Amino acid sequence: MKYELCKISEIPSEGTKLVDFFGREVHVYKTNGRPRAVANTCMHFGGPLDYQDGKFVCQWHNAEFGCEHGERLAGPAPSSAKLMFLSTRVEDDALFYVWGE
Ligand code: FES
Repeated sequence: MKYELCKISEIPSEGTKLVDFFGREVHVYKTNGRPRAVANTCMHFGGPLDYQDGKFVCQWHNAEFGCEHGERLAGPAPSSAKLMFLSTRVEDDALFYVWGE
C-alpha cells in the first residue's frame, strides 16, 4: 500500500502540517532534515497534540512527547508510551505512507 501524505514542498521548516489520513489527523514535519509523520493522538486518552518548541504537547492534560523518537517526556501518559509514527518513504517530490512494499 502506498498513499501520498503531502508534497515535500508543503512541509514547513518550523512546526508541522496537519494532513488527513483516512479520516484521522497526522502531523507531518521535519526533524534533522528528515520528513516524519506521526498520528495526532496522545498516548494517554487520545487527545490532540500541539507542536511546541520541538516537542508535542497534548491539549487535554499536557503530556509531552519528543519529536525525534516520540518518547514520553512528561505528563500523565505512561512513562513507556511512544507516539505512533507512520512508515513513510520520499518518492519524487512527495512523502508517502507505505505498508507492505
Ligand atoms: S489525553 Fe493527552 S495527556 Fe491526557
